[in-house]
Amino acid sequence: MPPGADEQPERPWWEGAVVYQIYPLSFCLADPDGRRARLERAAEPFADRLVEGAGDLEGIRRHLDHVASLGADAIWLSPFYPSPMADLGYDVSDYCDVSPLFGDLDGFDRLVAEAHGLGLKVLVDWVPNHTSDRHPWFLDARRSAASAHRDFYIWRDRDDSEPARPPNNWRRAFGEGPAWTFDDATGQWYLHLFLPGQPDLNWANAAVAEAMEEVLDFWLDHEVDGFRIDVAHALGKPDGLPDAPAGSATIPYSSQIDDRSTHEILRRLRRHTDRAARPPLLLGEVFLLETAKVAPYYGEGDELQLAFNFTPMYSRFSASSFRRRLTEIGEHLGSRGAVPTWVLSSHDASRHRSRYGGSMRRARAAAVLSLAMRGTVFLYAGEELGLEDAVVEGEAVLDPGGRDGCRAPIPWSPAPEHGWSLRGAAPFLPFPPEADRLDVETESSDPASMLALYRELTALRRRSPALRLGDLVLEEAGDDEVLAFSRSEGAERCLVLVNFAGSPRQVSLGHGLEVAACSGGDSGRSSPGGLFPGELGPEEAVICSWPPPGPGLRG
Ligand code: GLC
Repeated sequence: MPPGADEQPERPWWEGAVVYQIYPLSFCLADPDGRRARLERAAEPFADRLVEGAGDLEGIRRHLDHVASLGADAIWLSPFYPSPMADLGYDVSDYCDVSPLFGDLDGFDRLVAEAHGLGLKVLVDWVPNHTSDRHPWFLDARRSAASAHRDFYIWRDRDDSEPARPPNNWRRAFGEGPAWTFDDATGQWYLHLFLPGQPDLNWANAAVAEAMEEVLDFWLDHEVDGFRIDVAHALGKPDGLPDAPAGSATIPYSSQIDDRSTHEILRRLRRHTDRAARPPLLLGEVFLLETAKVAPYYGEGDELQLAFNFTPMYSRFSASSFRRRLTEIGEHLGSRGAVPTWVLSSHDASRHRSRYGGSMRRARAAAVLSLAMRGTVFLYAGEELGLEDAVVEGEAVLDPGGRDGCRAPIPWSPAPEHGWSLRGAAPFLPFPPEADRLDVETESSDPASMLALYRELTALRRRSPALRLGDLVLEEAGDDEVLAFSRSEGAERCLVLVNFAGSPRQVSLGHGLEVAACSGGDSGRSSPGGLFPGELGPEEAVICSWPPPGPGLRG
């Protein structure tokens, strides 16, 4: 039955939600003995530092209360599948199991059940563009050009040139080099948009789609609520694999590929998951750094329900760049009724506090900005503590993509081991700076901490339909360095003001409105519950309720 005129269509759970990203290697190690026992039975060895000091699923389970108390609606787990760890888990050698490094399937089921008990949805990472070169499909494909899984991957003959020239000019991500490796045994090149150990699957082969749909079904049977689809935009390859344009030939092709055939693949996947008893969320990583290019991945409501829009993550800390981002979001996503995503930090980029010059004040303002945003907000574990990247140099470097700094372990307590079961062994990466102050235990008991601010902001977002679900309209604050926008839903309205300048600013909006949240802490111009004085402190952000009990917007 169509909804009546006064009935609101039901909003999906993810609209306005806060999703907390956990990178399992760096969250917490809780069961080193279990790991040791599992690894004794495992066929493949892991680097000692991963064995001794990487996080595990049990560490995540034990800290779900932290995530719940942060006010998140869901967790997204980066890969925990069997993997040789060439790309730290994004090179999967078995899609339907848990790596012995992290735990086992029973432990995963316990984790999901407990998360659900706390009201947290669970999203898992699904890596459909490529497998590990140790996945049984690739091992079989490599056995001979006639093997059953040969067409699961993308192979090309070599030409007569000497030395041999790759089939096209595509560059791979992570390090220098072509996106092709020559396989001596079978005499053909195979495609890998990432490392040679991550061969691309051939989604033009229906057998690949069928096999990968079985993977989705497997995890749906394990009660997950959605999938974060790794490099979703790269699944379809252009016909004939033509060269990248000369001007962009040095840029990894994985961040340029944007072929029409991907949309048909996504529609197929969506039809498949929509038939599930509890249709999951399909959230795609669309690593194309233009909102206009991200928007088509929502299709006509029949492709991804959410697509990452990374432009804010690569923006300077300035009012003009964020104003531009919000304008683009309105233009390209708002116009098609798509729910935007908002993300400032992840396991793939320097943490935003580090990008903003290490400034805690800026990171606090960014927290207000993020949690006042329209759409689905993604927090990356550790940003609620105000962490910066760790310094990872020399022997300590692990990631071929140079992303170790943002993947440093989370400090749970101020003591030197920071709540990791390390028994004297070093964690797999060094802790981030100030780990003895910016830890969960210390910040939990400090009402002025970053953690306290995040908790206040998520609680406010939960209470306020305007912040969670409302429209977003850019406002004019009378100062170019102040970003202003309003959010409204029904009768409720909020005004959000962010001063990007390093000096106090008078604004022409919001005088006398009630302040609902403020980034400034003790030294701020405003405090929650008080009236907004019409002035923002340096790099300070506030959320006001609007209209206030007293004067109006321009009062
Ligand atoms: C995505 C992941 C990244 C990974 C890459 C290859 O961009 O977020 O961590 O290295 O895909 O799978």
